[in-house]
Amino acid sequence: MDSITERHEKALRRAEASITVGKEQAAKDVKRMRYHLMAPAYWINDPCGLIQFQGDYHVFYQHNPYGPLWGMMHWGHARSKDLIHWEHLPIALAPSEDYDSDPQGGIFTGSAVVDQGTLKVFYCGSTGEGENTRQVQCLAVSSDGIHFEKYCQNPVISVPPPEGSKDFRDPNVWKHGDHWYMVVGSGKDGKGKALLYRSDDLEDWDYIGVMAQSDGTLGTMWECPDFFPLGEKYVLIFSPMGLGKVKGLYLVGDFDDVTGKFTWQTKGEIDYGCDYYAPQTMEDDKHRRIMFGWLNSWGWMPWFKGFGPTVADNWCGAISLPRVLRLDEENHLCCEPALETKKLRGEQFCWKDVVVDPENRLMDHKADGVCLEIILLFDLQKTTAREFGLVLRGNEETDQKTVIRYFPKTEELVFDRSASDPYSEGESRCHCPPEKDGKLFLQVFSDTSCVEIYANHGRFCMSNNIYPDPSCVGTELYAKEGNLFADSVDVWRLKSIW
Ligand code: FRU
Repeated sequence: MDSITERHEKALRRAEASITVGKEQAAKDVKRMRYHLMAPAYWINDPCGLIQFQGDYHVFYQHNPYGPLWGMMHWGHARSKDLIHWEHLPIALAPSEDYDSDPQGGIFTGSAVVDQGTLKVFYCGSTGEGENTRQVQCLAVSSDGIHFEKYCQNPVISVPPPEGSKDFRDPNVWKHGDHWYMVVGSGKDGKGKALLYRSDDLEDWDYIGVMAQSDGTLGTMWECPDFFPLGEKYVLIFSPMGLGKVKGLYLVGDFDDVTGKFTWQTKGEIDYGCDYYAPQTMEDDKHRRIMFGWLNSWGWMPWFKGFGPTVADNWCGAISLPRVLRLDEENHLCCEPALETKKLRGEQFCWKDVVVDPENRLMDHKADGVCLEIILLFDLQKTTAREFGLVLRGNEETDQKTVIRYFPKTEELVFDRSASDPYSEGESRCHCPPEKDGKLFLQVFSDTSCVEIYANHGRFCMSNNIYPDPSCVGTELYAKEGNLFADSVDVWRLKSIW
């Protein structure tokens, strides 16, 4: 009989062979992102196991190496020296044991820690479906950060506590004082929950209790919890199920390490777009809290359209740019693109003291393009327009355009992709008041098939996928019913990382 190691290696070889077949077709697709991380081929969802190890940043991700849709989860793997340029590494974890093998389950999301120089990852092994679902927490270990051995006494947590349910997944581990802690996402009786465990050796885990739970308005199941200190406070982020358009929430408060209770005072949405889900964070050697999210989410697109047009080209899904987290004066979470994103910048165009009126819209075509970073500083005190905004990926011949609208009266920021392409639908919006000085600061990253927006230095983020025809390159500012005043408009063409 094969050993755990042999079974795992066999499963990894099979998965790699499948990727080798699929990646050629994927690579040819013009819709592939130019500066966001994707798998070499096939399906990708949540980033997981984020860690800096032996000087490199590691991102693992939920991955189906057998097709462009979700199923048979593995952990794909990439590493980077600068958070921007990624090197694909062999698949790290494959289903091979009875507790983690299932076509409708597998190696689910989890986290990573470094313990005495060794990389230890925790994942949820998921098997069975519906009432028969079994989700257990497991450990795997690596000394080189590339090859992983599953712990021979897995699972390290084999049943949910009474306060949890069969939905019991996404272990997130961290060190606090002399102990290791793990929070696991769950939900019971319509309330999402974060369940807390403690360990001295990362192998034996004691259940402490419910660390935090929904008050009835915060979702029925909390996927992908991540808990970390930030400034003087603690932050819990999670991806709630059952909240419709709300895809990710944060709670900011205080942690009592004796009772294991987290008491929160402020809350908010992590990203107001349709396509930002299951974010996870890590602390790096510069003491920054860095977050990556999955640029997609469950159920945004009508099922008859599948998961978007890239599925036909053997791939689906990408990981966001790195976001650095901080709290503002009111303890709201702000997520700004890491400064390393400046490495992507190429040719630059700038305009100062711009006035746009309803008849004068264009930025003289200099800013036309697909891969762009745009920073806009709008002066709302001078602006008289009822509505203004930025058109991206426009083309009058195909009638396609993606519009970022702002309504000064209601202070609403709207991402409208109803005319972006034949697949995408609808709007995402948020209440985004100007900054104290009456200015609205917008930083926009456009890649081939996605747009990330950071408003007011990361206080409001919005990420959405779009699939315009490659001929759609038009960029312009517009104003309706009055004038728009911008102190500055800066545009950079962004370079490909591949
Ligand atoms: C979130 C999620 C996790 C789970 C994983 C499975 O997107 O549902 O809860 O671990 O995806 O791929």
